[in-house]
Amino acid sequence: MRPRPNPSRKLNTMCGIVGAVSTKNIVPVLLEGLRRLEYRGYDSCGVAVHQGGQLRRARSTSRVAELEANVKAEEVQGGTGIAHTRWATHGAPAVHNAHPHFSHGPSAKQASAGRIALVHNGIIENHDELRAELKAKGYEFTSQTDTEVIAHLVDRLYEGDLLDAVQRAVVQLRGAYAIAVFCRDEPHRVVGAREGSPLVLGIGTGERAGENFLASDAMALAGVTDQIVYLEEGDVVDLQLGKTWITHVDASGAFKPVTREVRTVQAHTGAAELGPYRHYMQKEIFEQPRAIADTLDAVESITPELFGDGAYKAFKEVDKVLILACGTSYYSGSTAKYWLESIAKIPTSVEIASEYRYRESVPDPRTLVVTISQSGETADTLAALKHARGMGMKHTLTVCNVSTSAMVRECEFAYITRAGAEIGVASTKAFTTQLVGLFLLTLSLAQVRGHLTDEQEAEHLKDLRHLPVAVQAVLALEPQVVAWSEAFARKENALFLGRGLHYPIALEGALKLKEISYIHAEAYPAGELKHGPLALVTSAMPVVTVAPNDALVDKLKSNMQEVRARGGELFVFADSDTHIESGEGIHVIRMPEHYGVLSPILHVVPLQLLAYHTACARGTDVDKPRNLAKSVTVE
Ligand code: M6R
Repeated sequence: MRPRPNPSRKLNTMCGIVGAVSTKNIVPVLLEGLRRLEYRGYDSCGVAVHQGGQLRRARSTSRVAELEANVKAEEVQGGTGIAHTRWATHGAPAVHNAHPHFSHGPSAKQASAGRIALVHNGIIENHDELRAELKAKGYEFTSQTDTEVIAHLVDRLYEGDLLDAVQRAVVQLRGAYAIAVFCRDEPHRVVGAREGSPLVLGIGTGERAGENFLASDAMALAGVTDQIVYLEEGDVVDLQLGKTWITHVDASGAFKPVTREVRTVQAHTGAAELGPYRHYMQKEIFEQPRAIADTLDAVESITPELFGDGAYKAFKEVDKVLILACGTSYYSGSTAKYWLESIAKIPTSVEIASEYRYRESVPDPRTLVVTISQSGETADTLAALKHARGMGMKHTLTVCNVSTSAMVRECEFAYITRAGAEIGVASTKAFTTQLVGLFLLTLSLAQVRGHLTDEQEAEHLKDLRHLPVAVQAVLALEPQVVAWSEAFARKENALFLGRGLHYPIALEGALKLKEISYIHAEAYPAGELKHGPLALVTSAMPVVTVAPNDALVDKLKSNMQEVRARGGELFVFADSDTHIESGEGIHVIRMPEHYGVLSPILHVVPLQLLAYHTACARGTDVDKPRNLAKSVTVE
């Protein structure tokens, strides 16, 4: 029996894959695909083709634009090829570690040198032992990557049929992968495989009839084909001219043919025009009124069926909510906890997915497990979801921005936010639309549990529908925020304060500032200041305060006094009727209106703008901050 890859370890990377089989030069399509994946973050890229009976490649540690220049200079062209953007895990970002990797067969078998070309997303956990075995057989390694091991392994198993070699190779791999492979000896063939990392098959139509494509994200194939097959874990796909063939591994390690649905996917191009904006992040901040309106578009009334058929029955069966998410999505979940407990009266816990998946916890089958994810591909959140389900919590729901993502496919119910493709690494419009989806979930659960009258439903719906206008009014504060950003750009630390519903908003503001401006920022519930962080407050410490006119405003004013008494400089986003005024050491930007329980959706917007303009003033790479990637599909 062949060992299957360990299914409990779904480790992906945020690298990108594109592959194609065609009779025409496919390099422009491969490069355009890489460009569409650029926003995910990468530190090297490369392309390889079948050309004149040989493998040819170009690689770069710069941007895809430089790779394109190299490709032209070196006249790399061919009809069969693969391409990759790499986000380094094993081995530094360097040309010799960039994909595609070629096999380097043993000297006794020179015919196999440079026979296999391969790109890989994911992490191979048993690469050390495979490397040792392959070295012993005479394979030469030219990189520090785990990927090169797979190229050599496929070469080692190759006996004239690439599909067979890949099938025999992947059952020896432990960890996670999506791969695309081609062989010098089979000019019109690319084989792909996935286990724990996304991979799609694109089928050419019209002018591209007969051509077939592979990609780690359908977005890479926008404009090439909209006929997409989402491959499943354990699938191996064979692409040839005019035909494709999918096989799936069973528990014994044997592969059987399978049929997968071909879907018509209107992929977002991701290369949308910036219009009047300097960066995608700024554009996406300003798209929030539209994104919120679109997210609410189909909502006529509150009903559990907004989340899918059968949700009413499931909501009746649960008496707890467990929210699992990472990063910004975790903060939207943390905000929703306040709504779920105060409005729907349902006990709610929020867990950081990467902690929950490894923590011993006490499962309760009467729990609704809610995952939140912009991308729907975050490895930790997916693993946490599976962990929860594995412990017997069968009712699962996701609030997600990508309808075709693994998260949506894995969950019983879903609310798809309509933010549109988010390109900037810093999440903005995905966050506010998540909050809208989570508020609808709160109201639906409240309704099922008898805590929502018709009048309350009508009032909440009215407020939700007015949100786009209210957010637009907040966006008009941008010039005032720009004025503050100059002062922030000179700081190396910042504190963010909030209370209650707005504490997660302070956390989100601090995360935004640190990830794109690289200023160290911490957020605290304001009442916690005197329990430690007050020691940090001096005249050099800017303290950003989220000050809605809610029940805690007087307590918050006392906390602000604690800061002023230590010489700290306050930057306050205050609702107009809070009577918090600008003065010595206190700067106030007035929010247009107090928005009750939906106030977090407004208050986060100036914090996004503050982070954005501070980063611009510091000259950082706003849309692609260092060390970060858009879709964190690595553990
Ligand atoms: O795609 P997801 O929402 O699951 O991603 C979760 C986090 O990786 C993400 O929110 C990250 O924190 C963003 N860079 C925040 O701006």
